[in-house]
Amino acid sequence: MKQQVEIKAHAIMITLPYQGHLNPFVDLAMQLASKGITVTFVHTQHAHHLITTSRHTPTSDIFSAAPHLDIRYATISDGFPLDFDRDLNWVDYWESLIRDFPSRVSDLVGDIISSSDPSLPPFLVADTFAAWPAMVAQKYNLLNVSFWTQPATEFAIDYHLHLLKQNGHYPPNKDDDEHVINYIPGVAPISTKDLMSHLQEADPTIAHEIVFRAFKEVVKADFILHNTVQELEPHTLSVLSQKQATYAIGPINFSTKTKTSVPIPKSLRHQVDCSKWLDARPRRSVLYISFGSIAQTNREVIQEIAHGLVVSGVSFIWVIRPQIVIDDGTDVLPAGFDEDVKDRGLVVPWCDQLAVLSSPAVGGFLTHCGWNSILESVWCGVPMICYPILYDQPTNRKLVVDDWKIGINLCNGESVCREEVAEKIKKVMSGEASDANLKEIRSKLHDAWSEDGSSHTNFDRFLKDLNHKI
Ligand code: UDX
Repeated sequence: MKQQVEIKAHAIMITLPYQGHLNPFVDLAMQLASKGITVTFVHTQHAHHLITTSRHTPTSDIFSAAPHLDIRYATISDGFPLDFDRDLNWVDYWESLIRDFPSRVSDLVGDIISSSDPSLPPFLVADTFAAWPAMVAQKYNLLNVSFWTQPATEFAIDYHLHLLKQNGHYPPNKDDDEHVINYIPGVAPISTKDLMSHLQEADPTIAHEIVFRAFKEVVKADFILHNTVQELEPHTLSVLSQKQATYAIGPINFSTKTKTSVPIPKSLRHQVDCSKWLDARPRRSVLYISFGSIAQTNREVIQEIAHGLVVSGVSFIWVIRPQIVIDDGTDVLPAGFDEDVKDRGLVVPWCDQLAVLSSPAVGGFLTHCGWNSILESVWCGVPMICYPILYDQPTNRKLVVDDWKIGINLCNGESVCREEVAEKIKKVMSGEASDANLKEIRSKLHDAWSEDGSSHTNFDRFLKDLNHKI
């Protein structure tokens, strides 16, 4: 039996207000608190507003279902009114998060420290993409823990941007030819077409500024936690750990054994309950489709997928967010789609994805390859059809399809066509695409947080190292 690692300290955690980031952050807070650490968990007021208004029973404290854990909940203004459309105005929003938000965080952290028990040394836990951790850590002399919520592969690539520049691969070549990058320490040879979207775009955008700034800052972090599993990316993690204190602690989303009376509310949108509909379906008969919380696509892609679904004859749950199509939020499905699919399809604006993937009725997931979606799909043993759109998703696709062989591409060429969609849907739903590999990768995920699993061990090692330094 493992010796329990418990330390007395106070984690101040401020998340990014995005679903794919705040989900693992909440679970990290639970995990830290279950080890005896006092946590102050901070959401933006806007994220808090979305979480509470998306529920039937609003709450002033999202952790109220875990009264046995010492997690204090606070909110911070992001500087914009609640009704400001942060997605539509995301450049203005992020410019302000980079320029103005750090001083707000600094003030809040100062207030938290001055009103806390002085016998509990405080430390910071921030998303790697946050613009403020190094400044705030230096100001209050705090240990700075950076939490990376994507695969270590992407971390290693961004970490070595200077090598891409030296080799003429960033900014990208205008010749449009594919090149193989084989010089990033710890990263297997990778085609330029599989790089993260910001590295495939020549013209600088706010996304570049966010990422490049993050990787200038992260070298100042004392500890880096990765929401991945040692056995999935061993070489990458081993190389990264030679540079900075690195700990693979994923999938953090499934780590906590602490029971709560009800789940901790995390969703920024109202989740439609699909359980009754799913319960009435045969085992592995339903395809689940979702493109996550941010990615947008165009009408043509949605329509080709819709036609492919009709041809395939497969049952499905399809999450179509109101703004899934760029500049055009209404009636994105083809005319007559409802009649064509009748009751074999359920289209919802948002759902409890994990509950859906956990249903025995679900046999495949057509995904945009967000990292949380991949972890959740593998955890539930659901094979994937991959349609990456932006950010880390192209690189995640490479891991899923080319390296781990637990999913297939939606389309082999550039465009999505209905015949290929129907063919891929049938292939994944037949179970022939990836079963043996999926079982193997799934066991790696399930084992990671077992008693002697690598993530459990790494997390304890992190706590010991933190205790030593604090
Ligand atoms: C973003 C990026 O797109 C992603 O590539 C990156 O890895 C993290 O940040 P997102 O697009 O939201 O994330 O994708 P993903 O990482 O898959 O996270 C989505 C989360 O929303 C998942 O945890 C999923 O369970 C949840 N979700 C999704 C729901 O709760 N309901 C839904 O209907 C759809």
